Amino acid sequence: MHHFAYHNSKLYAEDVDLSQLAQQVGTPAYVYSQATLTRHFKVFSQAFQGLDALVCFAVKANSNRAVMALMASLGGGADIVSGGELTRALAAGVPAERIVYSGVGKSLAEMQAALEAGILMFNIESVQEMAVLNQVAADLGLKAPVSLRVNPDVDAQTHPKITTGLATNKFGLDVDLAFAQYQEAAKLDHLELKGVSCHIGSQLTQVAPFADALDRLGLLVAKLREAGIDLSLLDLGGGLGITYRDEEPPSPEEYAVALKDQVAAMNMRLVLEPGRVLVGNAGILLSRVLYTKDTPAKHFIVVDAAMNDLVRPSFYDSFHNIVPVDENQERPKVLADIVGPICETGDYLARDREIADVQRGDLIAVMSAGAYGFTMSSTYNSRPRAAEVMVNGDSWAVVRERETIEEVMRGESLPPWME
Ligand code: LLP
Repeated sequence: MHHFAYHNSKLYAEDVDLSQLAQQVGTPAYVYSQATLTRHFKVFSQAFQGLDALVCFAVKANSNRAVMALMASLGGGADIVSGGELTRALAAGVPAERIVYSGVGKSLAEMQAALEAGILMFNIESVQEMAVLNQVAADLGLKAPVSLRVNPDVDAQTHPKITTGLATNKFGLDVDLAFAQYQEAAKLDHLELKGVSCHIGSQLTQVAPFADALDRLGLLVAKLREAGIDLSLLDLGGGLGITYRDEEPPSPEEYAVALKDQVAAMNMRLVLEPGRVLVGNAGILLSRVLYTKDTPAKHFIVVDAAMNDLVRPSFYDSFHNIVPVDENQERPKVLADIVGPICETGDYLARDREIADVQRGDLIAVMSAGAYGFTMSSTYNSRPRAAEVMVNGDSWAVVRERETIEEVMRGESLPPWME
C-alpha cells in the first residue's frame, strides 16, 4: 500500500503532480510520501500492541533527517550502525534512550559518543568488542548497556548478499557459544547485561525463519535465567520484506502473530529494527529520459538516474517496477534495457523490461526506492547525488538539496610538490 497513483493519467505522489514537481526540483530526485511513511509505521507498531515493544527504525534504510524525525514523532527509535548514524539520529530528534547500536566494527570514538549520548543498548558482535567496550566505559566512569548479538544460524531464504544469520556470516556471536560468552561478559564491571539480540537478514518473505530464530533465543534466555543472568530486552532485528514485483511477504500483523505468544511468555521488552518495510514503498526515484537508442540486439532507454543513484538493480539484481509518469494509454509497450549514463555495463535500472514506449524528455518513476536507495548512492563518475523531496498532501519540500559538483570535490587538493 502506498500513495503514488495516477489521476487523469498523470502520476501523483499524494496530491502532488510529479511532472510539475520534476520541473521545479529537477531530476533525478527521490520523492517520499509522508502519508505512506506514517501509515507503515503505525501499521507496524500497532501489530505489536499488547506487548511492551519499541520500534527502532533501521536508519541505514533511509537516513534523511525528515524521515527520521517523522519516525521519532510517531514514537519510534533508531537502529544505528555507525557514529554517523548516531549523529544523524540525535540531530533528527530521536531520543538517545530509544537508540540501539549494532555492527561488527564499532570504533573507540563511536563507542564513546554513544555512551556519552546515553543510548539504550549496544548489540555486541564479538568477544574483543566486549572487552574494548568495557574499557571505554571504564575510562568514562560509565556502565555500557549491552546485549550480545547472537547469530542463530537460521537460513533467512533471501538474497545471499543480505543474509546475516548464517553461521558463515560475519555477524553476531555463535548461538552455541553465546551462553559461555554471557558468563564472561557478566564478569566485566563496566558492562550492564540488558538483553539479547539478533538480525537474520533482509527482505524475508516468510515468517518461519523469524520464529526459528526466536526459538533459539528463547532457549538461550531460559538457560541464562537459570544461571542467574536475567535479561530484560529482546531485540529481534529487522528484515521483514516488501513487494517489489510479486513477492507475498507476511503482513506486519502476520509477522507479529507468529512471534507474540512466545515473546509474551519470555516477559521481556521487545525491540524491533525494521527498515525496508517502513520506507521501501514510501519512496520513488524520479528520472527523465535522455535518449532512446536501438542496436541490432536491444532497445535502450537512457535515463538521467544511474547506478550511483540506485545501486540495487546492479548490486543485487533487484527488481524495481518502472512506470511512465504520464500514463498515455495509446503508447505501445516495448522491451527495453533502462540504463543510466555511467560508463559501466552494470549500470542499469532494469533489463529486458516491458515498458511503455517512452521518449526523450518523458519522465519515469522507479518504484519502491525508499529503502536503500539514497542511502546507498554514491558520486561515482563525479555525479552529484540526487535531491530528496518529502510530499505531504498537496505540499512538498526539498528535504535534501541536490548536491553540487563543488560539494563533491570538497576537500580535494594538490600535494605541495604539484602546485
Ligand atoms: N538491523 C540490522 C542489524 C541490520 O543489519 C539491518 C539491515 C536491519 C536491522 C534492517 O533490515 P530491514 O528491515 O531493512 O530488512 N542494502 C540491502 C539491504 C541490506 C540490509 C542490511 N541490514 C538492500 O538494498 O536490499
